[in-house]
Parts: sequence; C-alpha cells; structure tokens
Amino acid sequence: MAKGIGTLVIFGAGGDLAKRLLLPGLGQLVDSGRNDPFTLIGVGQDALSTSSWRSRVKKSFESSGATGAKATALAAETDYIRADVTDPSALESILGKCDGTPAFYFALPPRVTIAACAALAKVDLPDGTVFGLEKPFGTNLASAASLNRQLVKIIPENRIHRVDHFLGKSTVLNLLGLRFANRIFEPVWNSSNIERVDIVFDEQLGLEGRAGYYDHAGALVDMIQSHLLLVMALVAMEPPSSIGADDLRGAMAQVLRATRVWGGRAAQASKRARYTAGTINGRKLPSYVREPGVDAKNGTETLAHVVFEVDNWRWAGVPFTLRSGKALSDARKEIVITFKDVPHLPSGFTGSPGPAALRISLSPDDISLDLNINGQGDPFTIDRVVLNTEFGAGELEPYGEVLSGLLSNDPTLSVRADEIEECWRIVEPVLAAWKKDSVKLESYPAGSSGPASWGRR
Ligand code: BG6
Repeated sequence: MAKGIGTLVIFGAGGDLAKRLLLPGLGQLVDSGRNDPFTLIGVGQDALSTSSWRSRVKKSFESSGATGAKATALAAETDYIRADVTDPSALESILGKCDGTPAFYFALPPRVTIAACAALAKVDLPDGTVFGLEKPFGTNLASAASLNRQLVKIIPENRIHRVDHFLGKSTVLNLLGLRFANRIFEPVWNSSNIERVDIVFDEQLGLEGRAGYYDHAGALVDMIQSHLLLVMALVAMEPPSSIGADDLRGAMAQVLRATRVWGGRAAQASKRARYTAGTINGRKLPSYVREPGVDAKNGTETLAHVVFEVDNWRWAGVPFTLRSGKALSDARKEIVITFKDVPHLPSGFTGSPGPAALRISLSPDDISLDLNINGQGDPFTIDRVVLNTEFGAGELEPYGEVLSGLLSNDPTLSVRADEIEECWRIVEPVLAAWKKDSVKLESYPAGSSGPASWGRR
C-alpha cells in the first residue's frame, strides 16, 4: 500500500455497510492493482471465526466481480478480531496486530465512532495513521464540530478521510470535466442564464431493514445533508485552479459557506413526507411506520425537499432544489440545469417546448442536453431535440474510488472538516422547523411519485 500504510482495519466489520459496499469496493480496488499490497483486519462485536470472516470477505469481493488473484489472496489471509472499540486496551491490542502503519475505517454509528475516537486519543498511534469515517458524521452541527475538534487532537486533518461515496461516483466526478474542460458551459453557468437547478435522488428502495439507522436520520440527513449538498457544491463552485485536495475542497467549502435555505425561511422552503403501504414494480411495501424497528413517534420523513440559495454574485436569485426520497415510483437520480428562456424569440415562430435544459443523470450514467430547434415538419415550429450520451463506467465502484484515496492518503475525495460543518449548518434551520412541526409531515403511497399536493416534479 502506498506511503507506508500496511494494514486496513475495519471497525464494524460485521455490519451491513461493510458487507454490501465497503468490502465489494475494496475487492475491486485490490484487483485493479492501483494500490500497493496491504493486510486487512476486521473488527466487530460479534463472535466470528476466522474462517467465517474470510468466507464473508470472499463473498463480498465476489459480489463486485473481484475474483482476481490479489483479492482472493487478501480474503484468504484476512483476520477478524472480536473487540469493543471503545476500550483503549482493546485498541492497543488491535494495533499490535497491524503490519506497518494502520488505516482505521469506522463503519460505525456516530455515537460509537465518537466513543471509539475518545478511546483512540488514549492510545499511542504510529505516525502516518489514517482514519476513514463514514457518514453521518455527527448527529448535528455541535456534535460534528466537537468530533472534528477531538479528531485533530489525535491525527492531522489531512489524514482524516470523511467518506462520502457520492464523491466517488464517476458521474459526479464527471461534473468537473464537463464544467471545466469545455468552453461552452462556464460562460452561461450563472444567474443571467440559468433559471433553476434541481438535484433529485428518488429511490424505489424502501427501508430495506435499516430502521436502526434510518429512523433516526430520515431523508434530509441521510441524503441531503451529506450527499446532495456536496453534489450541489460541485455544480455551483467557482473553477478551482487545480483538482488537488486543497483547491477542490476549498472551492466546495466556499460555495457551501454561501448556501442557506431559500429566503432564510426554512418552514416555507422545505417539504417532508413519509410513505404509506403500496406496491413498487409488483413488490408490496408496508407503510413506513409498520416496518420492523420503526418508532412512529420519531416522525421520520422518507421524502425531503428543500430549496436553497447560494448567496454570491454568480448565483443570486437561482433556486437550488434538492430532493430525495424512498419507495417512489421512478428511480429518478439526476441534476437538471434549466436555462432561462431566450430574451426574445423572433415573432413568426410557433411552439414552445419550454426552456433548454442540461440533465446529468446519476443512474443510468448519462448526460442529455434538451435543445429547442426548428426544422422538422413545419420549419417555423420550435421543437425539442435531445442530445444524449452515456458516460463510460468508472474503473471502480464509488467505494473503491474513495478507498483508493484513503489508502494512498490522498484526501481529494474526502470531505474536509469545514465542509461537513457547513452541510450541518445549512440544514439545521430545516431540522429545527420540522422538530417544531412548522412543516406538516405529509404522506404518499409507496410506488407513487410523492404526495399528490406536491404536483409535478
Ligand atoms: C446511502 C444512503 O448513503 O446512499 C442510502 O444511506 C442510499 O439511504 C444510498 O440508498 C444511495 O447511494 P447508492 O450509491 O446506493 O445509489
């Protein structure tokens, strides 16, 4: 592994995240040969024999097609340690089993991560130790800020990788090339030419057995506070002079600092809803509140919609609408840049298909430019044409991409402390308005496109 890191230790190794996302991404990364060899240790609360752990790792690797010699060898040699990661002496003994410099990956709920960091502060860590921390990072602005303060007492900021796998999605990264490697977009990328920006991540998936986490997070924290605000930052940021960690993250942080809820009025700028029983693609879903582990008293939303503004010269007056929800009819996952109408359409033209728009789809990974032209049939009628192309798939799944950064200690795709705190600061007025019930919790049948009153998306 690059630059002296010899062992990746996954805390929370027995959990769903490790199984479904982390290990499959890791297997792909290992087989790609992008990083130098390292050893892998899984740490969890459950009793698990070495052979069952190895077969779990192998299965997870296989699920992403990571069946090459390198991934197979790593799965055959990995060890599992049953330990309480909030106990400093257990951490010391884990450290004793690491080869070379360790990277600790916290695939843990926020409260356990906080306790584990407190324990790690009491342990003598080797120089160069790297931390990877999963979202949600903290549970609000105060706890995120406090965790950040705690972390930099243990290791320097540039070795703390706050992971957001959306920053490893190839299409999200393609935004950089699209915006900054073409002359045609940047001159119109501003409030003089853009009417609105919508960033939508609607999923057909329901709760999928994740009540323990999701019922305390909800759609706003699960998707908007983290992933979608970072995507928005890439859409709205000023051109950085390089895509190195400092320039890129500095540009993202700058735009996040300028972001607030539309008009500063959280209750008017946000909507929330929760799914009731319904059917999606023939699959029946119970009402959210009847899902195992859900406490209706938590009032958790499964669909969140918030309008933000970016208070700077470039974006003044342009609404950025971020929306995400579960159990919806369509898996609509896209960034839509809607342009303003032309200042004057020569009289004599008929037809008005609406303003031009650029759509960047996160699934499937493609891009479309909706343009108005005349010519087909009646040459004086304006019609819509769509120029579309697929983005080539990235070499690695998003987790493989962010793990590559972590293991080579390149923090470009990690979220910096100030970015995380800004994301919490931006959503806190909405969380407060919802807590006070200033915004009604609406409902929608699973398999619909959301509450009928929200109208067309
Ligand atoms: C996760 C959220 O971070 O991202 C999930 O916790 C969501 O609720 C997921 O489904 C979406 O990401 P992806 O990459 O699976 O589309």
